[in-house]
Amino acid sequence: MKLSIIILAAGLGKRMRSELPKVLHPLANKPLIRHVVDGALALKPHSLHVVYGHGGDQVRATLSEFPIHWVHQAEQLGTGHAVAQAMPDIIDDSMVLVLCGDVPLITAATLENLCSQADNNSLGILTVELDNPQGYGRIVRNAAGEVERIIEEKDADAAIKQIKEINSGIFLIPAAHLRRWLGSLNNDNAQGEYYLTDIVSLAVAENIPIFTSAAHDVYEVMGINNRVQLATLERQYQKQQAYELMLDYGVTLHDPSRIDIRGSVEAGHDVAIDVNVVFEGEIKLGNKVKIGPNCIIRNATIGDGVEVLSNCVIENVVIGDNCKIGPLARLRPDTVLADNVHIGNFVEIKKSTVAKGSKINHLSYIGDTEIGTEVNIGAGTITCNYDGTNKHKTIIGDKAFIGSDTQLIAPVTVGAGATIGAGSTISRDTPDDTLTLSRTPQSTVPGWQRPIKK
Ligand code: UD1
Ligand code: CA
Repeated sequence: MKLSIIILAAGLGKRMRSELPKVLHPLANKPLIRHVVDGALALKPHSLHVVYGHGGDQVRATLSEFPIHWVHQAEQLGTGHAVAQAMPDIIDDSMVLVLCGDVPLITAATLENLCSQADNNSLGILTVELDNPQGYGRIVRNAAGEVERIIEEKDADAAIKQIKEINSGIFLIPAAHLRRWLGSLNNDNAQGEYYLTDIVSLAVAENIPIFTSAAHDVYEVMGINNRVQLATLERQYQKQQAYELMLDYGVTLHDPSRIDIRGSVEAGHDVAIDVNVVFEGEIKLGNKVKIGPNCIIRNATIGDGVEVLSNCVIENVVIGDNCKIGPLARLRPDTVLADNVHIGNFVEIKKSTVAKGSKINHLSYIGDTEIGTEVNIGAGTITCNYDGTNKHKTIIGDKAFIGSDTQLIAPVTVGAGATIGAGSTISRDTPDDTLTLSRTPQSTVPGWQRPIKK
């Protein structure tokens, strides 16, 4: 069976009250339509078509990396009209799966289940029963329980509004039938639109069998029209991610409702994550990693036994085994920490490597630096890596000891085993295994007295 997938995404999304096209609003940091495209591509379709209208350039740019046939719907005349715009590109011997760009939590598993029931002479509808079906098209069945038609909320009388089985908007239709039915739609309804849903009565009239398939979860078919619905589905998605971490990886979450995953997290065994941690991008956590409260971690690989204490911000970083980070540390892009490194409070590290067993425990800025093994960087040490125009490197040899409040003016190299006296400004390379210091000699003024208040 060849599968052609059409994603409808031309709607204006007025109720978002936004300049951004609705389908580009992020859920877990990923545009709504990307969620749908990812689900669609998981089905390995023969072709994928996206019907766009408003903000088309932005939508196309966002999805430029995907193999999509773009279909412009200049005027939004209804879902039936939208599908019709895509049909010229669709081959007759395929099955057409219609998805909505604003229904982001649909899963490949539910779609596969719908597709598994398909044959090239029947119409499939994904439906679900909702306690509050308001706003959705209702599935109207005859006395024998067969689907007869779909009636939109706006065209429904009180009796129809009682029906709890709703149309998800997701259909699976043989292309040749669909092409014929789309040709005979009219817009004689409350909204003056060409409804895709009217193909159901056309199928009934031709005695084409209709089957329905249920979504696993009601959230899978919920659409987003406003910010409240967006927030609701964001929470639902986050809950799913949190449950996956707990059930699939055995992670301890101190509160599963206070973690946000905007990307993917892989974890080893016995990982524990405290409250209000935000993960973005791709995260790999080793065994027995502990993450304290209020950390933001983006694109990071964190080794076994690492402890990240509270309030750290970590981005594009590789951390070796058994490191201790924070509280209140900031690790910026292209930082690589080897095993057993300690980074303490108010330490910022950017584009630097720190070899095994080295410690930077308090109040430092380390940028564009290579630090050897078992180095101790004293409190308040600053690498002066920027001369206002260019960035320069600092190299610190193995087992060096940098006294507190030292400025290392790059480019500069501190030798292995070197000691730098506290309070030094180091502007030239220092030799191995020696003490270097640059410090104004201390003086005392005998007999000096404090001024007396007049
Ligand atoms: C539609 C269904 C309704 C179903 C609901 C599920 C119809 C007539 N109604 O209603 O039965 O319960 O979805 O969410 O199909 N779109 C276009 N071009 C258009 C019109 C719409 O691309 O001209 C797109 C929208 O961007 C959206 C999707 O089609 O992604 C659904 O359109 P929308 O107007 O939201 O339909 P509903 O009234 O929600
Ligand atoms: Ca809708």
